[in-house]
Amino acid sequence: GRSWTGIGDLDESAAGRPVLIRGAAQAIRPVSKKMAFVVLRQSMSTVQCVLVASADAGVSTQMVRFATSLSKESIVDVEGVVSLPKEPLKATTQQVEIQVRKLYCINRAIPTLPINLEDAARSEAEFERAEQAGEKLVRVGQDTRLNYRAIDLRTPANQAIFRIQCQVENKFRDFLLSMNFVGIHSPKLISGSSEGGAAVFKLQYNGQPACLAQSPQLYKQMSICGGFGRVFEVGPVFRAENSNTHRHLCEFVGLDAEMEIKEHYFEVCDIIDGLFVAIFKHLNENCKKELETINRQYPFEHLKYLEKTLKLTYEEGIQMLKEAGTEIEPMSDLNTEAEKKLGRLVKEKYGTEFFILYRYPLAVRPFYTMPCYDNPAYSNSFDVFIRGEEIISGAQRIHTPELLTKRAIECGIDASTIASYIESFTYGAPPHGGFGVGLERVVMLFCALNNIRKTSLFPRDPQRLVP
Ligand code: 4AD
Repeated sequence: GRSWTGIGDLDESAAGRPVLIRGAAQAIRPVSKKMAFVVLRQSMSTVQCVLVASADAGVSTQMVRFATSLSKESIVDVEGVVSLPKEPLKATTQQVEIQVRKLYCINRAIPTLPINLEDAARSEAEFERAEQAGEKLVRVGQDTRLNYRAIDLRTPANQAIFRIQCQVENKFRDFLLSMNFVGIHSPKLISGSSEGGAAVFKLQYNGQPACLAQSPQLYKQMSICGGFGRVFEVGPVFRAENSNTHRHLCEFVGLDAEMEIKEHYFEVCDIIDGLFVAIFKHLNENCKKELETINRQYPFEHLKYLEKTLKLTYEEGIQMLKEAGTEIEPMSDLNTEAEKKLGRLVKEKYGTEFFILYRYPLAVRPFYTMPCYDNPAYSNSFDVFIRGEEIISGAQRIHTPELLTKRAIECGIDASTIASYIESFTYGAPPHGGFGVGLERVVMLFCALNNIRKTSLFPRDPQRLVP
């Protein structure tokens, strides 16, 4: 085959060399009958292709006309020579031009696209500046974006968001593999709910009632019973959420881990500490271009975190809130607003936007959570926050079948529906704990985006099953 160059790889060092590139026609500008510009885009990179009719270059006026007749977003191949522009280029990412020799349209896009990509890529500040200048620019609404996601995903910010997401997932795997975790895949078609009754999708499984897994919870614990010591899973999680919020999806990607505990459940917190500091460092050091690209459309401040992750007790948290004028009902969970406020208070006092809150009241945690040994009104559990919003929940689990049965009944769960799970703990099960992370939430909050739909490729929310 011929040798293709990626648009992002075109730089000054290639000057004078012939290249073959493919991209989407982002902008087409006729200058005269003899001259035109076509900007080609590939992912986050763009390059300007220059057509000048001349016998030397083998470019005819028909070819220039053909280029100017292209519809935006058509897929185009260009053979040409890399040249250095006279002045710095503002409209493209690459600081070289291509002097076109041949240009082929591989597939035409329809003439009028449902989304104008230029508008879809603008920042809010740009819209405001234009408004003040009396220009009319049309904002592309969230629903329109999602209805035509295959176009919307082409904006530089979206290209960057999903590259960041991929890096978070990859680093999660890498780090846990380096800590001797084993990757597993637990079933998603299961017989009963894993996280409690309400938010579960029900279905028929060969004539038998079944549901879609709300988490790998029961099966990752059973894998610990199965002798793996430390396990992790990256997979889909299904929640029949019926509220429309900026941070709930009906299907999201769960990053889960479960491990034997030798002495204290803080061993699980230590894994989270090492894991997330590694993820944040990796993103800041190796994804600079992606972060800058996101920042251009959705400006955000870099996440503040400590080398050793701050841990606060739930009691300390509600005390801080109380001192700042927010009373929390004792032994209740924190609502979204209280969590956000606590996030702000912690940032002011400790200079971090990433912290662990532990020792939650037992009453607000799932049945499988281990009560505190010294005070069973509390539990060996924790939540982890980025910028005042939850990204992780975790805990030590109950590993004795008697207590597990008792807690299930106390929580109103019919123990017979989880009999095989409970039975797994009768064959000798080590103390263990783990955590579950929402991948879309991590990316949303690391980049301070305002809606989880921005970090889900084709989001499933209560209203949306298509596309
Ligand atoms: O807090 P959750 O429900 O906890 C569990 O599933 C436990 N089994 C975890 C464990 O190991 N103890 O979910 C874990 C994380 C949340 O912190 C949040 O980041 C994300 O999953 N999450 C959601 N993300 C998007 N949409 C939703 N509807 C989510 N529900 C939870």
